[in-house]
Amino acid sequence: MGYSPDKLIISNSADELFKEAAACIAQYANECVQAKGVFSFSLAGGGTPKRLYQQLTSSPLIEQIPWASCHFYFGDERMVPHDHDDSNYAMAHKSLFERAPIPAGNIHPIPTDCDTAQECANRYAQEIGNLPGLDLVLLGIGQDGHTASLFPGTDILHEDTRPVSAVYVEKFRSWRISMTYPLINRAKQAIVLISGSDKSEIVHQVLNTDNPDVSFPIQGIRPLGQLSWFVDKDAYAG
Ligand code: 6PG
Repeated sequence: MGYSPDKLIISNSADELFKEAAACIAQYANECVQAKGVFSFSLAGGGTPKRLYQQLTSSPLIEQIPWASCHFYFGDERMVPHDHDDSNYAMAHKSLFERAPIPAGNIHPIPTDCDTAQECANRYAQEIGNLPGLDLVLLGIGQDGHTASLFPGTDILHEDTRPVSAVYVEKFRSWRISMTYPLINRAKQAIVLISGSDKSEIVHQVLNTDNPDVSFPIQGIRPLGQLSWFVDKDAYAG
């Protein structure tokens, strides 16, 4: 048996996937706020989480989540302006931030206006430096097994100290800024959200490959607390 999460939840449809994952996150947010007055949530980028964020900011969950006590961070960001089509901040702003009563000071975007991506990464590391482990890190998975911007064959995979670093992604010919394994794996919980038949091959490979020579960046995600995979049937079909 290959790499396995603590919890693997397989939903019958994409609709069910986003509803179930959103309900789980809303419940966890309330537990954290009741226990310690705050919920720190690192958001995933790309396309998949959009519908999750819309679920969180729709009834009934929008009335149930303690928004004023929730702080939002980003697992990674593309080195583009925050109003660029490729910006993870722009996606979260549209599908989450502008749809819920979140105080501006609770939103912690990764800066992308420095001269270099590494300077942006250093600035972000300073901003979140003394943060105890994040309560929740939400992640996606690429067809190459990357997560956040931890891409196969990149130096950031070997970063064992910095919480945030810059990474040049050859195939996109672009810089990104990403949380690293040391920061992500200090999280109390991590959720990997996977939808669609285009992910079934990588899901099958990651969960079933016993070959020690075959590994994917997603397999380095081992949070202090619970690791859950929320996968819809199309993505699990492999
Ligand atoms: C990003 C994400 C990245 C994403 C995967 C899956 O900035 O792109 O952080 O890790 O989760 O690439 O992307 P999709 O959800 O669009 O398939």
